[in-house]
Amino acid sequence: MSQTLLSRTGTAVCEVRGLRKAYAGTEVLKGVDFSLRHGEVKAVLGPSGSGKSTLLRLAALLEHADGGEILLNGERMGVDGRGRPLPESRLALQRRPMGMVFQSFNLFPHLNTIDNVMLALRRVKGTARSEAREIAEAMLERVGLTERRFAFPSELSGGQQQRVAIARALVMSPQVLLFDEPTSALDPELVREVLAVMESLAADGMTMMVVTHELGFARHVADTVAVFHEGRILEEGPPEQIFTDPAEDVTRRFLLQAL
Ligand SMILES: Nc1ncnc2c1ncn2[C@@H]1O[C@H](COP(=O)(O)OP(=O)(O)O)[C@@H](O)[C@H]1O
Ligand SMILES: [Mg+2]
Repeated sequence: MSQTLLSRTGTAVCEVRGLRKAYAGTEVLKGVDFSLRHGEVKAVLGPSGSGKSTLLRLAALLEHADGGEILLNGERMGVDGRGRPLPESRLALQRRPMGMVFQSFNLFPHLNTIDNVMLALRRVKGTARSEAREIAEAMLERVGLTERRFAFPSELSGGQQQRVAIARALVMSPQVLLFDEPTSALDPELVREVLAVMESLAADGMTMMVVTHELGFARHVADTVAVFHEGRILEEGPPEQIFTDPAEDVTRRFLLQAL
């Protein structure tokens, strides 16, 4: 492990062990293990259909796993002491430290930017309007959208909408941010502004797991790169190693065709 990696990252925030999931008898996750340390940025690469989105949905407690464990700060998530799925009310509380940014921005079309960003603070945390507004304004500044705070989603570019979605996740003060192909729905010229925001979050020490096809981001911003293949993490390591000296042929072939 490199010095920079050691100095940037510390104890595990999130740990996943032996995670399994099947749909209609077909195994989609076949025992996935990973850990995310404080401040770590992990890029997840891999072919379409290999189970990456499923992994993120399970890690964010949006769906129950069939087996395995998810720990946040050492505490087991999603299940009670006997391993039974928790009721939705408890799950909702456990989900809060996990922010999620999807490929499709999922903004409410009838709400302007600032109301979209404030909504969860008001509804989920019950934050007072004036305070929620202040927090939302601060996060919109962070993603460079102060001037667009009264615009509606239909008046924003895809890149701007995705930055609103990132601000919406940030207002909840997440401990971990999970990104599922955040730039895949964007026109090429809009990808950069979203990656720039993600890079600045990484520089600020945000713990992030990013499923992406952006090899430049994986190589230059991520601390670790995990290669996902057929429901498993095939290999994982520092970007330099994965990109220049992968252990697996599958990785080599995937990187070649993804370039
Ligand atoms: N809710 C679901 N019901 C049935 N099959 C699903 C569901 N979600 C995902 N799958 C299947 O699981 C596999 C992995 O999907 P996904 O996690 O979306 O992969 P990726 O994000 O790597 O493209 C695919 O074959 C997909 O069709
Ligand atoms: Mg996916």
